[in-house]
Amino acid sequence: MKQIVLGAFLMGILWGCSQENKEQAGSDPPIKKEVSEAPKSTDPMDNKGVGPITSLELGPIDQAMVDEGKTIYDQMCTACHKADEKFIGPAPAGIMTRRSPEWVMNMILNPEGMVREDPIAKQLLVEYNMAPMANQGLTEDQARKILEYFRTLE
Ligand code: HEC
Repeated sequence: MKQIVLGAFLMGILWGCSQENKEQAGSDPPIKKEVSEAPKSTDPMDNKGVGPITSLELGPIDQAMVDEGKTIYDQMCTACHKADEKFIGPAPAGIMTRRSPEWVMNMILNPEGMVREDPIAKQLLVEYNMAPMANQGLTEDQARKILEYFRTLE
């Protein structure tokens, strides 16, 4: 007799729990939905591009790096870029307000991957008559100095 009472008691607990679980399960899906369907950011500044640079913190502008960056840019980039007017490629003036620093670095270091996989770079390729941005084989350090120079172009 004792066992039957205990059994009924346990079943009561189990039933209670399963009801509770059902209630919880019922309120679960909408929460999950919100997370998975949250719209992806369309702000270009949130796009870090595709390539070796995944995060980059910018400090105060370093003038020595700017000068070196300008020298490298003048040698390697001016065949296709003019600082403040559209040429074979876009003008870098104001680029730091349009693109994230990581994106700019990846565009310099990995233009092939960028025009293949990055939505903004793909669109630029079309806009610039399918003339692909050339990989100049720069080191990360050289690219970072050019980025510093770009920070001074408004
Ligand atoms: C052979 C021509 C060519 C050379 C050389 C070149 N680029 Fe480009 N660049 C382009 C073109 C064309 C685009 C537009 C995207 C495309 O068509 O692939 C572009 C796009 C870019 C962009 C993106 C601009 C934006 O508004 O989003 C950056 C940044 C850039 N180039 C930096 C450089 C740097 C730095 C160098 C030198 C190391 C360089 N490029 C050398 C042709 C060139």
